[in-house]
Amino acid sequence: MELATTLTGQTVQNRVREIGINANHWYAVAWAKELHPNQILPIRLWNQEIALYRDSQGIVQAVEDICPHKGVALHKGKVQGDAIVCPYHGWEFEAGQCTKIPYFPPEQKLPRACVKTFPVRERYGIIFIFPGDPTLADQVPMIDIPQYGDPDWLMVTIGAEFQAHYTICNENTMDVFHGYLHENLQGWFDPVLLKLQETQDTVRADYRVSYEGPMTKFLGLNETSKVTTRTISVNYQYPNYINSLEGISFLYLMRLPISPQESRSFSLMFVKVRIPRWLTEPLRPVLEPVIRNLFFMRFLRQDIEMIESEYAHYISDRQRRYVEVNPAIIAVQRLMVRQYEQYIHSPSHSPSHFPSHSPSAPSANGASTEKPAAIPESI
Ligand code: FES
Ligand SMILES: [Fe+2]
Repeated sequence: MELATTLTGQTVQNRVREIGINANHWYAVAWAKELHPNQILPIRLWNQEIALYRDSQGIVQAVEDICPHKGVALHKGKVQGDAIVCPYHGWEFEAGQCTKIPYFPPEQKLPRACVKTFPVRERYGIIFIFPGDPTLADQVPMIDIPQYGDPDWLMVTIGAEFQAHYTICNENTMDVFHGYLHENLQGWFDPVLLKLQETQDTVRADYRVSYEGPMTKFLGLNETSKVTTRTISVNYQYPNYINSLEGISFLYLMRLPISPQESRSFSLMFVKVRIPRWLTEPLRPVLEPVIRNLFFMRFLRQDIEMIESEYAHYISDRQRRYVEVNPAIIAVQRLMVRQYEQYIHSPSHSPSHFPSHSPSAPSANGASTEKPAAIPESI
């Protein structure tokens, strides 16, 4: 559906800050290099505590980080072959089942004590988890990143943490009008929303922006340092973003909603290499951190400050209303609410299955699973 691109004032529905997630998607939860053999990495996905470890084949396993014996965190234990071993009494678990209690005689039957497992995949140097109905995991496509591993592209990995609800972070990514914030970093200016499209699962906005300065030349936006205009496509494909700048660069941004108050992002930025390949290969390990730290992290730090300020004011007064003018932001809010409602109304969902709502952010009447207020369908 094509939407109007006119900028008009609308009151933002704060209830979007109280929604949970649609757990029937693949979520990026960790960089693969963070998980070493024989180590256990604890992560949180919408308040669900999960322990990641590599089995004897190096394949990532994901289990609930709570021992079914007495509730101790399993990540404090150790890995033994294919099993995760609880630190307290040494019970061992494999594929979700208790396979050994060290103080039981060999012939004694083990109790039925299961630990929940999650579908998990390692791709693009990232570990993904499917926290929802595991029978749907194979049907739900993962993000596709064709540039990954292609030597014609320089890949820059960028991670960030935000003390904010994931919906605020996602609105920041769609909000190209905040180039004002990055003015001192030779960011973009004069943004214009050219086109806005919405489907059941996506919002795509095309913006025209202007760049200038030596960095634009370095990134291949312009042959000179003069002003140039380019079209940025910002494509929200729940729960990820795929953004591109006229095929010159791509940004794949994967969001981890840790809890209602914390979010993390895993981004892969691809920049077309404009120097000969024989020179790029040795330079790649040097270029990547330089571009990340001298360029992207400076932008990100500015964004994090704004996002956290916005969230802090939301928390201090949840009833306060704000004014939005960008129809792309309203469309992103609508999509996030729609996905959440779709999940809580799905036949496979049960509150004990996966916490879908914001447990620590109850709605005004205290009913935390209450349907959020409707956001207008048309703009
Ligand atoms: S609490 Fe885990 S083995 Fe006892
Ligand atoms: Fe920004």
